[in-house]
Amino acid sequence: MLLLLVVCLLSVFTAGGSTQIQNQRNSTVNETAQESSLFSARFGFTDLAGVRSFVLEEELETRIIGGQEAWAHSWPWQVSLQLASMPACGGAIVSPLWVISAAHCFIRHSKASLWTVLAGKHDLDKAEQPQEQLVGVSMIFIHHSYNTQSKDSDIALLKLEKPLEFNHFVRPIDIWMTPLPLLMKCTITGWGSTRENGPRVNRLQEVNVTILPSDTCNQYYLGRIRPSMFCAGKDEGGLDACQGDSGGPLSCFTGTRYELAGLVSWGVGCGRAKRPGVYTRVQQHVQWMSDTMGAQAQVYEDDLIDEEECGKQQSSGCDQTPGLAEISLSADGVLSVVNVTESCPFLWPWQVSLQFNGRHYCSGALIHPHWVITAKHCRVRAKEDVAVLGLHDIKFLPVQTILVDKVFNPPQKTGFPPKSDLALLHLSVAARLGSEVSPVCVPDEDDDLDDTWSCITTGWGATKAQEGVDPDRLHHAGLTLVNATSCRQKWGGFVTDSHICSHPAGSTSCMGDAGAPLVCQKYGTYFLFGVVTWGSWHCDSEKPAIFTRVSDYQSWIRKMIFKF
Ligand SMILES: *[C@@H]1O[C@H](CO)[C@@H](O)[C@H](O)[C@H]1NC(C)=O
Ligand SMILES: *[C@@H]1O[C@H](CO)[C@@H](O)[C@H](O)[C@H]1NC(C)=O
Ligand SMILES: *[C@@H]1O[C@H](CO)[C@@H](O)[C@H](O)[C@H]1NC(C)=O
Ligand SMILES: *[C@@H]1O[C@H](CO)[C@@H](O)[C@H](O)[C@H]1NC(C)=O
Ligand SMILES: *[C@@H]1O[C@H](CO)[C@@H](O)[C@H](O)[C@H]1NC(C)=O
Repeated sequence: MLLLLVVCLLSVFTAGGSTQIQNQRNSTVNETAQESSLFSARFGFTDLAGVRSFVLEEELETRIIGGQEAWAHSWPWQVSLQLASMPACGGAIVSPLWVISAAHCFIRHSKASLWTVLAGKHDLDKAEQPQEQLVGVSMIFIHHSYNTQSKDSDIALLKLEKPLEFNHFVRPIDIWMTPLPLLMKCTITGWGSTRENGPRVNRLQEVNVTILPSDTCNQYYLGRIRPSMFCAGKDEGGLDACQGDSGGPLSCFTGTRYELAGLVSWGVGCGRAKRPGVYTRVQQHVQWMSDTMGAQAQVYEDDLIDEEECGKQQSSGCDQTPGLAEISLSADGVLSVVNVTESCPFLWPWQVSLQFNGRHYCSGALIHPHWVITAKHCRVRAKEDVAVLGLHDIKFLPVQTILVDKVFNPPQKTGFPPKSDLALLHLSVAARLGSEVSPVCVPDEDDDLDDTWSCITTGWGATKAQEGVDPDRLHHAGLTLVNATSCRQKWGGFVTDSHICSHPAGSTSCMGDAGAPLVCQKYGTYFLFGVVTWGSWHCDSEKPAIFTRVSDYQSWIRKMIFKF
């Protein structure tokens, strides 16, 4: 075992420059557990972010202290970004799942799967060591304003495939948020070459640099320095510094810890006079970072209703598109619905029959292995009623029957007609998914249901269909939508923004089923946009059918699913 660390020195600098050394006997402290409680105001983790660590290793290692080489593992937020397993750029850890680097590293190779992040490494030539963590990159976010010519906004975020575990070798760094004091001394780190066109080095290097005034730097670079950049030059005397790796951190000491002020962006040559290094000013992009990382947290939650796995018809050998339903009145005054047809078995694998004592009384839609959506007015009873899945003909045995064990309704507004006519049913066991049973997608709150979507409704029960449709077999019909203006003309103020109106044929009185879903598709994926709530009592061809707008309850639905 190389983990022969007996003593670990955690060094905390004080503002006066004296060093206070704290002995910590156990170097294998597992700090992951503290993560959640330590989330700082921005990105890092307050107790660990930006705190260097000085680990003494008992193993014999020919380490040269001094010169340009860093003390091994003393910049624990520094990572090596590897392109096809070759070191290509530097970066800094900002949270367990996120690494920050320069956009220009990823322009030619923007495919996340080509990249890996190597953390906890000092000597790149050394074989795998126990303290290192190698993690794949799942997504690369290049700043939308990055400009390859001007190098403006040269910043990128990498989302990792799995979280890094923080310890003495791997730690995050927070972002420097106040104006950078001119002539402040900061440190750049990386495995970049130490001389122009020289070879890459194996061991992590550190160089102290001084933050330069923008106008001085702009003179050197003929006005190319944008507000999103700053320059820094070498500490002792000259105005030059050799580059670390592109994307690597420029870390500045606050008096108690280090914070990330810059990312190595560009420069002319290396170590030339009057050609200081140019760095991305990270604090300018904090909003973008928050937005990107926040949006991704959202996506992570969305995985619960995985869009890859929902809304897809799997029944093969039957690609049937139902015609658009119409209501017609025959010469002898008989009203009927045209274009309601029996669907192919299992064409709508999310369709659920809600039953009590073996009798179908409402439909629902499976949105998750454990969850079904239906109308509140169906009055599903927990621990009594069952959800029947994978059903075509009610007379035959279904694929799965599962007890509903909980029923939830959104925070309620009472009154008539019913508002928030929606119920979320929790199934006592998870549905087994397959070609005959699979969930439909839940639309986002801002998904606009416009004419680019095509919608259908499905259900059982006696319809007013022209040709006899067996009420025991699942039937379907296409529905045109009716806009809110026309809908209110027919129904008055009962219709709210939380409703969707369709052709009158969608009413329960025409189609025969209560709680029937309205699913709409675009690009072959079906979304549950509505649950039938009310309509005319007599299949009136003038009165649009009204559906509860499911997307209005999306965050509530998500919250409920997340909670269980
Ligand atoms: C270090 O950790 C081990 C295992 O958790 C424990 O048994 C030991 O007492 C600890 N040593 C010190 C000095 O805290
Ligand atoms: C650290 O703790 C986490 C959570 O308690 C655990 O999952 C992980 O396996 C631990 N890692 C080590 C190296 O002990
Ligand atoms: C960089 O500066 C720090 C203090 O500001 C100093 O302790 C360190 O030795 C310097 N490193 C190099 C390589 O000059
Ligand atoms: C039934 O649907 C088909 C296909 O969409 C359509 O061509 C036809 O006009 C519809 N019939 C009526 C009476 O609307
Ligand atoms: C709503 O639909 C009616 C009838 O189809 C149409 O005349 C009207 O222009 C539509 N209004 C809007 C705002 O789209």
